[in-house]
Amino acid sequence: MVNETIKLMLEHASVRNFTAEKIPAATLKTIIEAGRAASTWKNFQSYSIINVQTDETKSKIFDLQPQKSIKQASHFLVFVGDLNRAEKATKLHTDQFFPEGTENLLISSVDASLAAQNTLLAAESLGYGGVIVGLIRDQAAEISNLLHLPDYTYPLFGLALGVPARQNDVKPRLPYEAVVFDERYQEQTIKVIEDYDRLQAEFAGARRLSSDWSERIATQFGVPSQTATLENLQDKKLM
Ligand SMILES: Cc1cc2nc3c(=O)[nH]c(=O)nc-3n(C[C@H](O)[C@H](O)[C@H](O)COP(=O)(O)O)c2cc1C
Repeated sequence: MVNETIKLMLEHASVRNFTAEKIPAATLKTIIEAGRAASTWKNFQSYSIINVQTDETKSKIFDLQPQKSIKQASHFLVFVGDLNRAEKATKLHTDQFFPEGTENLLISSVDASLAAQNTLLAAESLGYGGVIVGLIRDQAAEISNLLHLPDYTYPLFGLALGVPARQNDVKPRLPYEAVVFDERYQEQTIKVIEDYDRLQAEFAGARRLSSDWSERIATQFGVPSQTATLENLQDKKLM
């Protein structure tokens, strides 16, 4: 059964080109409130959202991470993992505060991600489009400085939102059976990867990137990960 909500979700495609039209402030607030309605670990709401809308700040972020969606967006929402409020709440009850570590990082990152996806979906439901921009983490310290992020906070990704200038086609996902398993995990064969490489190449057609899907994965995981994220997390006393 497919209703309007599911249809909208199935039609998702990231938008990276926007017109100059702005999202009205009241509409943006509604979109973000819908985002903030997402589930959150123990209702801690361990994230903040920096609403970047001036050309000046968008340009400064673009200079650090040159993706045109940042500059063209009506609003560039930077989702920030945030245990700064948690420090204040904790200090009401004890002098001890242990924000560091993987589990706490997952708590704030998952909370922020759920809110961001809800925000994007709400925007799409009103005819707007957007793209998540995670590569701002390559310049984590610079973005933190620019946005005045305090201790116990870190930039997770941006969400560029606006009026679509161009709609992309819906990207085919991996086959359902390669991702969703009944009762127990099912390790996949190389053939599944090769088949999906072919499917992606066919889908992309003339717009095909110079590399295959699996090659792009190798570019990420075939080399040690960047250190900017870890260094920034250490600087913000989260690792
Ligand atoms: C955490 C995260 C980070 C992303 N970072 C970027 C980015 O820096 N630049 C970009 O153009 N797209 C980025 N994307 C968008 C993905 O490339 C896109 O969602 C994916 O290719 C699937 O395409 P679709 O959203 O059109 O279905 C990001 C998506 C996620 C979830």
